[in-house]
Amino acid sequence: MSLKKSPSTPEEVAKTRRLIRQGWDEVAAEYAKDRLGVFDAFAGRLLDLLQPSRGEVLLDVGCGAGLVALKSAAWVGDSGRVVGCDISPAMVSWAKRKAREQEVTNATFQQMDAEDLDFPENVFDTVTCAFSLFQFPNMDKALAEMRRVLKPGGRLGLSNWGPGYFSPIGALQRDLFREFDLKPLLTNPIVFRADNLRKLLEEAGFRDIEVIAEEEEVWAENPAQVWAFNLDMGPFPVMLRRQLSPEQQAELMQNFLDILQGLMTEKGIKCVFHPLYAFAEKEGKFARP
Ligand SMILES: C[S@@+](CC[C@H](N)C(=O)[O-])C[C@H]1O[C@@H](n2cnc3c(N)ncnc32)[C@H](O)[C@@H]1O
Repeated sequence: MSLKKSPSTPEEVAKTRRLIRQGWDEVAAEYAKDRLGVFDAFAGRLLDLLQPSRGEVLLDVGCGAGLVALKSAAWVGDSGRVVGCDISPAMVSWAKRKAREQEVTNATFQQMDAEDLDFPENVFDTVTCAFSLFQFPNMDKALAEMRRVLKPGGRLGLSNWGPGYFSPIGALQRDLFREFDLKPLLTNPIVFRADNLRKLLEEAGFRDIEVIAEEEEVWAENPAQVWAFNLDMGPFPVMLRRQLSPEQQAELMQNFLDILQGLMTEKGIKCVFHPLYAFAEKEGKFARP
């Protein structure tokens, strides 16, 4: 499957983007709870690998409820500054609320489309984008924007889903969706292969690309928690609503819960997540021959 698959007309792109935004608006409060704790863990890992320096100006694209941005604020310190942006106004509100609650004073948040960043070129030392790239209908355009706003020598840090995604549940879920003839709302595959991600970054003009695949074992308490985790992902409930009757939705949920029940152990349900991190640089500061 091509990573660049996009809706064919500008109208379709605009409609998809609107549906994705609405989906995230609807689930923002639930997503902000980070039900399985994975997004918090992966935000920390992205920054541990990236090591932002004190004093940096950092942009987090598709910031959601602010996990990466708020952690970055501690890395860059009082002499640095963080900006988070997201297409969903509800997510931006949650990020601002969490900043207030955590008394973070060097991070601000704005509503913005990743494909049209409202910043001049060459202004950020670092750009991050966690589990959001595949949400953007034109990933190449979004990456070009991230590169444009980076200073020469500035660094990009991405986290995405790699092969294996959310095993074994992801594959079982995919089979079930096929049975119900469900078409994904997102125009890009959720899972990236390392070589495809590398190619996408190369084509966007980045250099010194490094891709790191990892695994993280997480235990869900019960089937209901896994189903709720799915519903916390904005495009998922929108996809269900638009393609299935209420009866079909109930049937799919029951089938899914039955499958999950079969995976239950004394400890709960084992979920192995497969994050795929990517790091790259915008040429310039230390340009080599
Ligand atoms: C899975 S969440 C990730 C949020 C956050 N980065 C994290 O790690 O928790 C995906 C986010 O992408 C945002 N998003 C989707 N399409 C977008 C777009 N075109 N521009 C900016 N943000 C977008 C959604 O609103 C949502 O907050």
